Amino acid sequence: MHTLDLFADDRPDAGQREPLGAQAVVLRGYVLPGLPALWQTLQQLTAQSPFRIMQTAGGRSMSAALSSCGKLGWVSDSHGYRYAPRDPHSGKPWPTMPQTLFQLGQQAAAEAGFADFAPDTCLINRYLPGARMGLHQDRHERDYRQPIVSVSLGLPAIFQFGGLKRDAAVQRVPLFHGDVVVWGGVDRLRFHGVLPVKPGEHPLLGAQRINLTLRKAG
Ligand code: SIN
Ligand code: FE2
Repeated sequence: MHTLDLFADDRPDAGQREPLGAQAVVLRGYVLPGLPALWQTLQQLTAQSPFRIMQTAGGRSMSAALSSCGKLGWVSDSHGYRYAPRDPHSGKPWPTMPQTLFQLGQQAAAEAGFADFAPDTCLINRYLPGARMGLHQDRHERDYRQPIVSVSLGLPAIFQFGGLKRDAAVQRVPLFHGDVVVWGGVDRLRFHGVLPVKPGEHPLLGAQRINLTLRKAG
């Protein structure tokens, strides 16, 4: 029965920690206890700043659709990638980051050994089946001492976690609804990406995967 997936108790691996590096870890099922409240919050946020397909600097369309909340939001267009205080579609500030999301980020970071994480942006990525994210580094943030906290919801995906150089060996890590990955410190600039999401139907989110990336950008 699909509906059983909604409850943390059904994930025998919930609560497990899987190290991906000296300062990188997967926290299995970490956000499951806060669902579906988190899902409701996300629906409100993306009603205010809807998902949109952004263009890369090279003029290609990204396959994942993006939104943001917080003081800053991640934007990409023909001028390149950057953080901006306003949603370019509406011209208005991004929706405020809900306290619950801030705390979730802080707690997950602390759990992974990073005290004092103070995220000022949450990127919200939506992957419909077939969407992917090419290998990249998160390097447009000011302070690399602050970690990255990445939350997976909905359909599963294979997360690629590489090295500090693009051509280094890549670990393939399946991520499921409720999992959180935290990387920072010596692992802060590791290349990472997401393989194309396979078609499927998640009991709570339907035919999509949502990824939240909490960061301190400014
Ligand atoms: C990203 O690196 O921006 C997204 C990672 C993910 O979707 O898991
Ligand atoms: Fe990233």
